[in-house]
Amino acid sequence: MGCTVGVARSSERAQLNSSLHGCWYAVATVDGVGGAPVAVEVLGTPYVIWRTPDQRLAAVKDQCSHREARLSLGRVEDGCLRCPYHGWAFAEEGRCVEVPSSGVDAPIPPAAHLTPVLLEEHHGLVWLCPGEPTSSVPVIDVDHDPAFTRLNTAMQIWNCSATRMIDNMLDVAHFPYTHAGTFGREQEKEVPKFSLSQLDDTFYGYEYSVVINNEGEAKTMSGGGGDVIGLDMSTGFALPFTVRSTMSYENGIEQVLFMTATPMSSERSMFTFVLWRNDDVSETGQGIVDFELAVALEDQHMLERVPGELSLDHGALVDTASDKASVEWRRRFKALLDEGAV
Ligand code: FES
Ligand SMILES: [Fe+2]
Repeated sequence: MGCTVGVARSSERAQLNSSLHGCWYAVATVDGVGGAPVAVEVLGTPYVIWRTPDQRLAAVKDQCSHREARLSLGRVEDGCLRCPYHGWAFAEEGRCVEVPSSGVDAPIPPAAHLTPVLLEEHHGLVWLCPGEPTSSVPVIDVDHDPAFTRLNTAMQIWNCSATRMIDNMLDVAHFPYTHAGTFGREQEKEVPKFSLSQLDDTFYGYEYSVVINNEGEAKTMSGGGGDVIGLDMSTGFALPFTVRSTMSYENGIEQVLFMTATPMSSERSMFTFVLWRNDDVSETGQGIVDFELAVALEDQHMLERVPGELSLDHGALVDTASDKASVEWRRRFKALLDEGAV
């Protein structure tokens, strides 16, 4: 039987949730949660995030305890989430603090309180854990290095499976074709042999060198140079759904690209990336982000036209030497799902 990640069949959903609900998922940018409730979805379950009076973040399932209305359609008042249907108000920790129809002195029914959902902030992103955490948010080693500046971009929704997104992020063989409009060079279509290793305490993957187009907007990212440029890279994954690529240019510029995919359903996922750079990005930051957004759009265009999830079954796909990081991710991801199977 194939493994599914989304919300396909109910028996598989149970397996899925018990396997993955202890993991952390990037659901929003920190700057993306302001004065209004934010609706997100993880593994088929909708959640709502809002800010408490002291600006901390809070989350509950996006379902009112009264008549199950979508709380994310309501508003935030004095740090409380106000349901749009009958106006019940919920403070942080999901505590119901007001039932307008009952009057101010009436006791709040104990069942009115909602269960809080765990959130953490890392790398300018809001991370949500649907259950009891069994793992940590991936550590990016340059995150606390003062030589590096972090650049965030908005959370996107892609109409494709997160499994296909991770496979794509671990793949260099598509550069000359999928990314012909940005940095890909058709002359560099052969992928040299590489081996997999533990890149640091968090990421597992491979190191390699590439030659890429460095024309026009690409020069913003590389910091200049000729129209073709070589760089040393590494690409690795941290289960379940994050990938980090590091890029070292000959001129000393270092860039770390951290990509996250969050499965909303079997064919819908959230996506964002975070960049760290060791050069001055005060003038170039937006151009660098825009270039990476153009690259991501090329991947999105390809993946949104492929239905369903990537098969995790051994032998179901044709794999070549350049696919071995994806093969290893699929093997480990399947093992993670099997661990949680009941
Ligand atoms: S459904 Fe939320 S207050 Fe009634
Ligand atoms: Fe790509």
